[in-house]
Amino acid sequence: MTRTTSTAATTSRPPRILAPSILSADFGRLAEDVKKVEEAGADWIHVDVMDGHFVPNLTIGPAVTEAVRRITLLPIDVHLMIESPERFVEAFAGAGADRITVHQEVCPHLNRVMDQIREAGALPGVALNPSTPVSTLSEVVGDLDLLLIMTVNPGFGGQSFLTSSLGKVARARALLDQRGTGRAHLQVDGGVDDSTIGLCAEAGADSFVAGSAVYGHADGAQAGVAALRKALSQVNERRA
Ligand code: DX5
Ligand code: ZN
Repeated sequence: MTRTTSTAATTSRPPRILAPSILSADFGRLAEDVKKVEEAGADWIHVDVMDGHFVPNLTIGPAVTEAVRRITLLPIDVHLMIESPERFVEAFAGAGADRITVHQEVCPHLNRVMDQIREAGALPGVALNPSTPVSTLSEVVGDLDLLLIMTVNPGFGGQSFLTSSLGKVARARALLDQRGTGRAHLQVDGGVDDSTIGLCAEAGADSFVAGSAVYGHADGAQAGVAALRKALSQVNERRA
């Protein structure tokens, strides 16, 4: 199976990415639910992994990731909300993850984990909880392929977007512009829907995770993707 490439690394800013989270999918119909968003034009499939320690919820692991790998050619974007993520990097990369994002809060040796992710064949990302400042990444930002600003406290789908995180997205944008590689995505995750996605884009995000706005859409997941795409297209870009 040939995978699609993630994104071009040649432009000064990566393209905008819609990444539906399968956390809100029907796990009994997972293949169908992944296909639906693929056909609707989703760019990546976001896989939320929770361990019941770092966050108060348990979700899925490498086996389900591997199952998703078999049913789609889209890049798989794994978000590890787990303690000691270095124990599972190879398992998720081996299961087919194209990107692996770990939380800053559980990685005292971030450089080491990012190297480990790259050596395992995936692209490394780092996520920040709402209470963790952007400045904690100032020394590693040049090595990142993705910086994830959590726009809810992680653990559950369907929470309300924290408007206070918009300023943080803008600060992350500034840090990436000043010291990033140009290829790193700035991702937002949590409470992203057709009323908040534009605000995130205006603040500088270019990768958008959405669970309930996609799979909970009244007219189905395909309509959910279309609504987000439409809201994004209406954003008056403030790109240089
Ligand atoms: C939050 C997860 C998210 C979440 C998104 O803990 O990382 O990916 O499931 O779900 P919504 O879009 O419903 O907030
Ligand atoms: Zn997530």
